[in-house]
Amino acid sequence: MIYLTVNERPVTVPAGARLLQAVRAAGVVLPTLCYHEGLAPYGACRLCMVTLTSPPPAKLVAACVHPAAAGMIVNTETPEAVASRRLAVELLLSRCPQSEVIKNLAAAMGVRESRFPVTPAQGEMDLCVLCGLCVRVCQEAIGASAIGFVGRGGNRKVSTPFELHSEACLGCGACAEICPTGAIRVEDKGPVRILHTWHTQVELLPCPRCGRFFAPQAMAFLPEQFPESESFWRLCPTCRQQQTARQWVQQHKLTRTGSRSD
Ligand code: SF4
Ligand code: FES
Repeated sequence: MIYLTVNERPVTVPAGARLLQAVRAAGVVLPTLCYHEGLAPYGACRLCMVTLTSPPPAKLVAACVHPAAAGMIVNTETPEAVASRRLAVELLLSRCPQSEVIKNLAAAMGVRESRFPVTPAQGEMDLCVLCGLCVRVCQEAIGASAIGFVGRGGNRKVSTPFELHSEACLGCGACAEICPTGAIRVEDKGPVRILHTWHTQVELLPCPRCGRFFAPQAMAFLPEQFPESESFWRLCPTCRQQQTARQWVQQHKLTRTGSRSD
């Protein structure tokens, strides 16, 4: 375990933890946009800036990427840390002025408007804050690497190669699920899933119970790959939920009566 201090409070975190874990262990809520505990830290949004007072010299660091070490002293409320987080949200506001998520985040931090000129992201990606969560989930969790960052400066964005239909995209929709601002548009139309943002369409398989199309064909291997949870992968989320509820009731009856009810 690592022992350190956050806002004058002693905390312990496991070896390998980042400062964000220590901050959370101290009960402090820091805003985060680009962080997800299941993915590699990236440090893009700068909303989690804190002051690392010790070891000296004191400096501002992004808590989500900075490794925690024994004896560190962290302060989340120095004027520099607060100003740095407010600056970060102002920059996000000038990029995505129409994003409700960013507006709410800014309001919670006492920021009403940005001092910077509004330079909105263009077209399909007008809600994208470049947090990179979609890119990382596609690469690290799904293993598809269907999307990536392209361009520089104000033209930087996430896209498929050459902004064309991606053969690598499985159509799982994990990118849209994880996107904090709802920037990725995915639509199911009958047997087809349209990933508008990625210029890609994939065919869907139906749920064998209710007939609703829901599973991308490229993921048809999952029931065979995980035979122990075959029905979990084969059924649509609604039928899966119903089946789980039925199983739970059956088991509950069994424990109460000590005998099978069916
Ligand atoms: S599309 Fe969403 S998840 Fe991807 S970088 Fe932009 S804001 Fe982040
Ligand atoms: S959450 Fe730390 S930089 Fe984004």
